[in-house]
Amino acid sequence: MNIQLPAHIAFGQRLAQNPKVNIEFNLSDSCAQSLSVNALCQLANSTVESVLGKQELSYAPLWGGEALRQLIVDFHQSVNNHEIKLTFEDVLTFCGAQEALSAIYQCLFSTNSLFTSSELAESEIVVITPCYPSLVTMAEQLGIKVNCLLLDPEQEWQITFKELSCLVNEKTRLIVVNSPHNPSGSVITSELADEILALAKKFNCYLLADDVSQMSNYHQLPLAHRYLDYDKAIVVSVLSKSFGLSGLRIGWAVTKNKVLLKQLLAFKAQSSICTSAVDEKLAELALTHHQKIINDNNNITYQNIILFQQFIDDNPQYLSWQPPQAGLLGLVKCHSQTPLLEWAEQLAEQAGILVYPACLFGLNDQYFRIGLGKTDFSLILTRLQLFIDGNLSAQ
Ligand SMILES: Cc1ncc(COP(=O)(O)O)c(C=O)c1O
Repeated sequence: MNIQLPAHIAFGQRLAQNPKVNIEFNLSDSCAQSLSVNALCQLANSTVESVLGKQELSYAPLWGGEALRQLIVDFHQSVNNHEIKLTFEDVLTFCGAQEALSAIYQCLFSTNSLFTSSELAESEIVVITPCYPSLVTMAEQLGIKVNCLLLDPEQEWQITFKELSCLVNEKTRLIVVNSPHNPSGSVITSELADEILALAKKFNCYLLADDVSQMSNYHQLPLAHRYLDYDKAIVVSVLSKSFGLSGLRIGWAVTKNKVLLKQLLAFKAQSSICTSAVDEKLAELALTHHQKIINDNNNITYQNIILFQQFIDDNPQYLSWQPPQAGLLGLVKCHSQTPLLEWAEQLAEQAGILVYPACLFGLNDQYFRIGLGKTDFSLILTRLQLFIDGNLSAQ
């Protein structure tokens, strides 16, 4: 197998090798603002010493600690509409959402997977694009045909059930959804989620919900779903995105499917074995105090969206966008004559700002991804304005 770096990471690595580039800011960051360990402990009126001082530095349980898995279940139960009762036994922790996604793709689609070899030979999956690159490349590397539903700016990047259902057939083994969507910021409402669930059931295929930024719902949209009532559904989430705690490599998969869970565990046992016990302890704290962390992060994102709308209004000849409906990301159209990959390289060289061109996510047009979750956002915009002014005067 020829394993490739995800396109956006490869782009960042290429820039890092350019001697003219010194990246100071990331304007495409997909995470909310992070907290220090001190600040996280203070949320519980506690100190680092009392939270971690006596923590033994041994392996964490293979499945993830029971207390942590119970907090994860409570969290999903409070956010979504499942009729079924979830228990901690439906949860497996991973080192980030990426390890969970990788485990799911491997368990479904590598040889000796849950499918027979003839089923596997003609397997297809459906992915909404542009998207987080791994969702497509991990399937392609396993030789699986990927049917892409390409989002359209004319439809505000919104998926329609009609277009999605045209791509699903008897060969479809998996439908992948990601809401709020990376990179467009569009969403799957509860109503559409019910239709997607019915479609997956009709074709008896797996349904994977990448929910990593579900809590970044600052407009209080109806984003709750009931996917987990279906035993071929898997929900993946993580502390990196809405929580902003990517330094804790704690992600998870939740499913009622015991056969799949056992396979995922076997994959994990051959990959990370377990997550870090220190991370798990801090993750318990973050989930216990999630309301405060999420509220603070959503206020930052909401204010940054207002700031960026003002920035667009000040530069209508240069940039345009559709603000995200939810999540931490959006797509910005750049009206410069320079091809976007080249433009992004110039921005990195001249202003020290990293942006990811949308072609890295599968959209070949003059867009880049904007990250709206960080407190240094207005500082970056000041730098960006200088770059744009310089560009315009040079034309
Ligand atoms: C949609 C989506 N899913 C999964 C991941 C992986 O999350 P993590 O890096 O925390 O493992 C990312 C990270 O950017 C993402 O954007």
